Amino acid sequence: MSYQVLAKLPTIRDASTALLIYDRILTRQPALKKWIQKFPCHYAVQSGETLKDIDNFPQHLKKILKLQQKHQVSFSKVYVLGGGSVGDFGGFVASILRRGLPCTQIPSTWLAALDSAHGGKTALNVAGFKNQVGTFHYPEKVWVIKEVLETQPADRLQEAAGEFLKTALIGGKNLLEKLSHWDWVQGKIKWSDLKSFIEVKYSVLKKDPFEKKGLRHVLNLGHTIGHAWEAEYGLPHGLAIFYGLLFDMAWSSQKNLLSAQGAQRITSREPWESIFNLKIDRMLFSLSEKKLSQYLLQDKKNSKKGIQYIFIQKPGKVTIQTTPIQDVLAEYRRQKRILEDFHENL
Ligand SMILES: NC(=O)c1ccc[n+]([C@@H]2O[C@H](COP(=O)([O-])OP(=O)(O)OC[C@H]3O[C@@H](n4cnc5c(N)ncnc54)[C@H](O)[C@@H]3O)[C@@H](O)[C@H]2O)c1
Ligand SMILES: [Zn+2]
Repeated sequence: MSYQVLAKLPTIRDASTALLIYDRILTRQPALKKWIQKFPCHYAVQSGETLKDIDNFPQHLKKILKLQQKHQVSFSKVYVLGGGSVGDFGGFVASILRRGLPCTQIPSTWLAALDSAHGGKTALNVAGFKNQVGTFHYPEKVWVIKEVLETQPADRLQEAAGEFLKTALIGGKNLLEKLSHWDWVQGKIKWSDLKSFIEVKYSVLKKDPFEKKGLRHVLNLGHTIGHAWEAEYGLPHGLAIFYGLLFDMAWSSQKNLLSAQGAQRITSREPWESIFNLKIDRMLFSLSEKKLSQYLLQDKKNSKKGIQYIFIQKPGKVTIQTTPIQDVLAEYRRQKRILEDFHENL
């Protein structure tokens, strides 16, 4: 379990026996294209949930194995270059080829660079349900590369805001402070800050690498409601999580876990106020309670007693409470009413 932050794509010494799986969109960048072509066995994929569909998997696997035959090699290693969907797919391939080949993940989106590339989880979708099948296969290395990540359009950083804010809320107020200095409009981060965010993920992973102790669950902060909104409205994941965090902050304040002043301090600073609509959009609450409870029942941490809901006490301190679904629905109703009253009185 290790990662490096690098300026440029490194020279690969074992390229002749390696398999590279990559997002085809990246070949639009001449420097990346040149690097990709140095691998005799390179396999281009179209990113997204269809790539992760188990029904398509046998075809991919056949083509990958044919590459091996064509080049008369036996793969010794897998490199995966792309966002989270390519990482989940490529990691899964690496975990089953020859009963598990070492893998290097090279994230090309902020979401993958901060989150999905590091955690060892690989996943495929079954019958339209996300991440139903998968393995734990930790990458031997993760390379977080400036040259790769800076090819993203500016709005990708705004879409990842939820994951960065989540990490800061888990990591502490220093991280919140750092976020306020990034250029969210131009989509530019301060590179020297990035490690401190990734470290938060590793500090949790090291305590519970295979999700056996429940400690990894804190990384799902903002995700309970966020996932429902993401699925219902097709929002980008990070944006849905951003709204999920606003919901969780409001609920944490309502429960007197987070002081109203604390919540205010988190959201009153730049960039949140000027770039993001800090009021949860009323439209999000048009999701019916019936539909919401269906989404909540799908939550992997759901049991008879309720959901393992994560609340915020202050930046750097979160707490998990077993919460009946009825309580989540009641809070949903409460926040919806507040928003409606607010708009009626405008
Ligand atoms: N394994 C995990 O722990 C974990 C955690 C969170 C999310 N995920 C998974 O990650 C996926 C979402 O991640 P994502 O948003 O990175 O997915 P993605 O791979 O679908 O990438 C998002 C979009 O960005 C494009 N793209 C990628 N790199 C680019 C670049 N450098 N420049 C321009 N465009 C680029 C892709 O082609 C795609 O259109 C979901 O499938 C989710 O389930 C996995
Ligand atoms: Zn997430």
